[in-house]
Amino acid sequence: MAQHSPDELENKGQAAPFGQSVGRMFAVLFRPEMKRWRFRIALAFLLTVGAKGLAVTAPVFLGEGINRLTAGEGAAAAGPSFVAFIVLFATARFSASALPAIRDSFFTVVTQDAQRIIAVDAFRHAQHLDLQFHLTRRSGALNRIIERGAIAVEYLLRFLAFNIGPTIVELILASIVLAALYGLQFSAAAIVTVAVYAVFTILVTEWRNKQRRAFNEVDTRLRGIALDTLANFETVKSFAAEDRESARYDDATREYNRHYVKIMQSLAALNGGQELIMTGGLFAVAVLAGYGALNGTMQVGDVTAIILMLANIYRPLNILGWAWREIKQGTVDIEKLFGLMDMRSGVRDASDARPFEPKTGEIRFEEVSFAHEGRDSGLNDVTFSAPGGSFIGVVGPSGAGKSTILKLLFRFYDPPKGRILIDGQDVRQVTQNSLRCALGLVPQEVVLFNDTLRFNLAYAQPDASDEDIMTAARSAQLGAFIESLPKGLDTKVGERGLKLSGGEKQRVGVARAILRNPPILILDEATSSLDSTTEEEVQSALKEAARGRTTIAVAHRLSTIAGADVILVLDDGVIRERGTHEELIAKGGLYASLWRRQAGGDTDKSTAEAPVAQQVAE
Ligand SMILES: Nc1ncnc2c1ncn2[C@@H]1O[C@H](COP(=O)(O)OP(=O)(O)OP(=O)(O)O)[C@@H](O)[C@H]1O
Ligand SMILES: [Mg+2]
Repeated sequence: MAQHSPDELENKGQAAPFGQSVGRMFAVLFRPEMKRWRFRIALAFLLTVGAKGLAVTAPVFLGEGINRLTAGEGAAAAGPSFVAFIVLFATARFSASALPAIRDSFFTVVTQDAQRIIAVDAFRHAQHLDLQFHLTRRSGALNRIIERGAIAVEYLLRFLAFNIGPTIVELILASIVLAALYGLQFSAAAIVTVAVYAVFTILVTEWRNKQRRAFNEVDTRLRGIALDTLANFETVKSFAAEDRESARYDDATREYNRHYVKIMQSLAALNGGQELIMTGGLFAVAVLAGYGALNGTMQVGDVTAIILMLANIYRPLNILGWAWREIKQGTVDIEKLFGLMDMRSGVRDASDARPFEPKTGEIRFEEVSFAHEGRDSGLNDVTFSAPGGSFIGVVGPSGAGKSTILKLLFRFYDPPKGRILIDGQDVRQVTQNSLRCALGLVPQEVVLFNDTLRFNLAYAQPDASDEDIMTAARSAQLGAFIESLPKGLDTKVGERGLKLSGGEKQRVGVARAILRNPPILILDEATSSLDSTTEEEVQSALKEAARGRTTIAVAHRLSTIAGADVILVLDDGVIRERGTHEELIAKGGLYASLWRRQAGGDTDKSTAEAPVAQQVAE
């Protein structure tokens, strides 16, 4: 069903060809959002080319100046022209390095903006991927892919546009000037050196890239372990597993270090080899130029100019090697990012999807069968319909598929067989956004954002006023609790809401759903963590909230759904029985036996529940 395997992305990225990734990266510069930077982009380009031209001509000025000194024309004639050339040399040299600095000062905002656009794109895309994707992925790892990928994009944009490109231009210019002014052998020596250097660099870098990928994997795993353990601290503590977790962390860190050492060693080998090639090239040219001066075919100033020009070539070459390494390594990150962006959600809006139009809130399941990925069994031929405004109870043993039914209603998954209709509209034919806006859910497990109570309550309705929030909170029996807090709605709830009790969290979930005011209300064990008094109060608030809207309520505690219009008894993915409470009791089947067991066996609740049970039964 899902069109991706979760590990595929992390392990190798969906290796898009290098050129394609670079093309996509540069395409960002031409996005409409980037239009406002056009002038800066053009100016940066001009400054870059200008700086390279000046860098190549500066040594020629110096050489010419020295030639005037050594030509034997006497101080009166040689002095002023020497000074003139030296001024030219200094100006060209200074400008060649100042212009890129000026460029960087106004261009950083452009690359930062490009980085933001890519990161937000990827973030948005990842959020829209289906539930299956998120269930099988470590969120820390996902965050790393986006973060590293976006940084690599910014980095590569800058390098290709301002280092690699211009450096190649500079090499070509320098070779032409060398050949034209001093002889072909000098540019030949320069070109051969550069070629050997480049081939060596690329080969070694390819080898190192493999190491880098392995390193990234280990790095991702290490971070995954750390994040997972720290996020699950309650579980860790309650199983006294601190030492076990530390040992796991230690193992992963050792593995990380082992890969890191390898990477650093191969880096040293690369740098050493590059130095050797450069020095060899410089040596050859120095010998050639020295012979020229001895033979009288060139002047002393020419030798200086050539050596200086080589030093200039030497410098960008150094950057070339480094930048090439960065490019190749950044590509690994970018491949992953684009791999992520290319992932298609298993659940997608149809091309002709329309916004869902709520009417009465009628829900129909027609022969729906569905199994979770990697499971053999699941829902089997589930058929039921809930007229608009009705109250449907769903009961059954743990693992029967109750929550799965609700998830299908939200279209978190697409069933391979059957249809789900709300108000006559197939959930696959409407946009997911509009569908989910019409549904209000109190989930089995209320998970909160690490923010204030206000933020969490208003999540259902971000523009709600404090008054609305408190009204909803009061009907969820949360009013007194919030008022008792020194910081009230501004109280932070801790990561995943762990600073609240299970019941408080659950009531936040209820208040949220009440605040949302949706046409269809879905309650998955909405009150299971509450004591019986609070539960009764929250139940009556929910009953109030359910009035006039279709409600599907899953419950273990049968008393909470005994008043339902229809109760579906689910077992092993199949609806075994259906009917009202009275019909099911009279039938004497699965429901009746569950009811008897709960009313009698649950000593805590029996006294509290018996009257309710009788009320409903009567
Ligand atoms: N994402 C998933 N991937 C694989 N299997 C899943 C997934 N979610 C649920 N299942 C399996 O599907 C079956 C039905 O799960 P479901 O959550 O619908 O049960 P339930 O009736 O709500 O149970 P409970 O009363 O314990 O909440 C279970 O066997 C469960 O292990
Ligand atoms: Mg469930």
